[in-house]
Amino acid sequence: MSGYQIPFNKAGLVGNEIRYIVQAIEHGHISGDGTFTTQCNELLERELGVAKALLTTSCTHALEMSALLLDVQPGDEIIVPSFTFVSTANAFVLRGARIVFADVRPDTLNLDESNLDSLISERTKAIVAVHYAGVACEMDTIVALASQHGVRLVEDNAHGLFAKYKGKYTGTFGCLATQSFHETKNVTCGEGGALIVNDPELVERALVIREKGTNRSQFFRGQVDKYSWVDLGSSYLPSDLLAAFLFAQLEARHEIQNKRRRIWHHYREHLQEWAEQNGVRLPVVPPECEQSYHMFYLLLPSLAHRQSLISHLKSHGILSVFHYVPLHLSEMGRKHGAGTANCPVTEDVSSRLIRLPFYNDLTEEEHARVISAVKKFSM
Ligand SMILES: Cc1ncc(COP(=O)(O)O)c(C=O)c1O
Repeated sequence: MSGYQIPFNKAGLVGNEIRYIVQAIEHGHISGDGTFTTQCNELLERELGVAKALLTTSCTHALEMSALLLDVQPGDEIIVPSFTFVSTANAFVLRGARIVFADVRPDTLNLDESNLDSLISERTKAIVAVHYAGVACEMDTIVALASQHGVRLVEDNAHGLFAKYKGKYTGTFGCLATQSFHETKNVTCGEGGALIVNDPELVERALVIREKGTNRSQFFRGQVDKYSWVDLGSSYLPSDLLAAFLFAQLEARHEIQNKRRRIWHHYREHLQEWAEQNGVRLPVVPPECEQSYHMFYLLLPSLAHRQSLISHLKSHGILSVFHYVPLHLSEMGRKHGAGTANCPVTEDVSSRLIRLPFYNDLTEEEHARVISAVKKFSM
C-alpha cells in the first residue's frame, strides 16, 4: 500500500513458480484440472493423509461447496464463531441457513467449546470450527459433541494448513475442511483454496458440485458415456496456471514454514517484556497445538490504545491491521442470525486486536524496524 515502507503482507516467490507456469502453457492445458492441479491435490492428500483434496478458486468457494454437500436447507442452523471472516457464515446463508453465532475463548480466540452444547438444537445441521491464527480449536470436545448430537463438523482451516492438534493435522477432523491460498496465506497462488473431503461418502458428489453440477469427472474416468447436468454445482476449479504457481509453493512448504516460524518466535522473544510492562497480551498456543505460524497479533488494553498503535506504526511507515468485525453485530449477521447472540469475548477482543506485518520475505532489517517501532509505543 502506498505510503508504507513496510506493508502488512507481500507476496513472494519461493522458486519454481514462473517455470511451472510456462510449463503449464507448454502443456497446452491452462483450464482447470490439468497436471498441476492433480499434483497439488495429490501432494495435499499424501501430506495430510486425507481421502480427497480438491483445489478450488478460494476458501470461500470451498465453504460454499461444503454447504451444498451437506444439503443445507432454509431453516437449518449452522453454528459459527462470530469472530471469523464473512465467508464462514455467508456460504451457509446462501443456502438459506440461519447462523447461530458462538463466542470464542479468551486465550486462543477459537470457538468456545465450553458453551457449544447449549447452542445445539434439533435444527443444527453443522458446526464450523475456525482454527484462528492456525492454532487448533479444542478438537476433542468439539468432535465428541458433534458426534453425540449427530451434527456435521466442518473445519474452516483458512489459516491452519499444516498445523496440528495432538499430532494430527487440522483439516482432518471434520467431514469437510476448507483451505485458503489467498495472497495473505503462508502458501499462496494469489486467489485459491481447497476442499478437503474426509468423509469418503461425500467424494463423488464433491466432484460433481465442483464441475458445475455435471458428472464430467465420471465421464473422464470412462464410467459414463456422456456427461450431463446431474446436481447443483458451480465453477469451482482454478486455472492450471494458478495450480502451477501453487505447486511450486507447496513443494517449498518446509522452507516457507521455517521462515515463518523464525519470524513468529523473533516477534515473541523481542516483544514479550514490552508486552508485560504495558498490559499487552501476546498469542497463546496451548501445548497440544502445533501452530501454522500464520500471523502474529497483539491484544492491546483498549480500543483507544489499539487505534493509537496503528497510527503510531503508520507514522513509522508500517502498516498494521485489525481483525475481525464481530459478525453478529454486522448488518447481515443481524438479519441472518438465529436468536440473540451472546458473544462478549468476541466484542472485546475484536476491538483490541492488532496484526503486525508478517510475510515470508520479511527481512531482518524490516523485522527489527517493526519491533523497535512497537517498543517505542508505551501506554
Ligand atoms: C477464517 C477465514 N475463512 C475464510 C476466508 C476466505 O478465504 P478466501 O479469500 O480464500 O476465500 C478467510 C480469509 O482470509 C478467513 O480468514
